[in-house]
Amino acid sequence: MSEALLQVENLAINFGALPAVSNLSFRAAKGGITSIIGPNGAGKSTLFNLVSGALQPQRGRVEFAGEEVTGWATHRLLRAGLSRSFQITNLFFELSVFENLRLAAQILEPAGHWLLPVARSTKGRERAGDLLERFGLAEKAGSLAGHLSHGEQRRLEIAMALASRPKLLLLDEPTQGMSHGDTQSTADMIKSLAGDLTILLIEHDIDVVMNLSDHVVVMHQGAKLAEGTPAEVRENPAVQKAYLGGVH
Ligand SMILES: Nc1ncnc2c1ncn2[C@@H]1O[C@H](COP(=O)(O)OP(=O)(O)OP(=O)(O)O)[C@@H](O)[C@H]1O
Ligand SMILES: [Mg+2]
Repeated sequence: MSEALLQVENLAINFGALPAVSNLSFRAAKGGITSIIGPNGAGKSTLFNLVSGALQPQRGRVEFAGEEVTGWATHRLLRAGLSRSFQITNLFFELSVFENLRLAAQILEPAGHWLLPVARSTKGRERAGDLLERFGLAEKAGSLAGHLSHGEQRRLEIAMALASRPKLLLLDEPTQGMSHGDTQSTADMIKSLAGDLTILLIEHDIDVVMNLSDHVVVMHQGAKLAEGTPAEVRENPAVQKAYLGGVH
């Protein structure tokens, strides 16, 4: 297997008596797309919370870019190159599209410059401008984020997660609630981001998973049920029983 950018070993957290993530290990290869799939409540978003520093694991370790980062705070991980988008829309609805992006890009300013007047935060402004163009949102730069269509909001969220120039991007159901057409274009966009970037993707649309993924990890009741190439996972009887409902 090619070099791993992210390595998760025996990661675990319980919520009361519920083992939300139990003894989970996997690797995400540099430059690839690794997908996490599994039924509702399988522990996928909790895994992202553990990897991105929103929750502290009770057991296990996380290694990122050759360094142990277990328990690091979200902000420190972001500076090290690990960024995430959320399953539930996480925009500032009352701010413009540009301001949302500029705030997300502020982490690029040297430490101590974050409180500069907006006009002087040049790196953040440049990055926000580039992302507006790249994500087809330039015409909406001055619109309030709350006034965008659902598809545009989800696109903006991916752009915001990229604003910090991460090495690893965690995307939690980026196509949720999208039309078929928006799902296809979002999938194409995600594919085009891989290579320079390593992507960890939670996705329910099984066609998207099969088309995009280099590697698939299947979770069930907090634990890893299977992993492999999309084809290997699709043919796995335990996966079909627990999750795919016999889809071929
Ligand atoms: N903060 C929390 N406190 C208590 N229980 C939680 C918490 N977060 C999640 N859970 C529970 O942990 C389990 C895993 O939830 P999680 O959100 O990780 O699942 P998921 O795989 O992302 O599901 P979905 O596909 O619906 O998004 C669920 O039973 C959920 O109810
Ligand atoms: Mg979830």
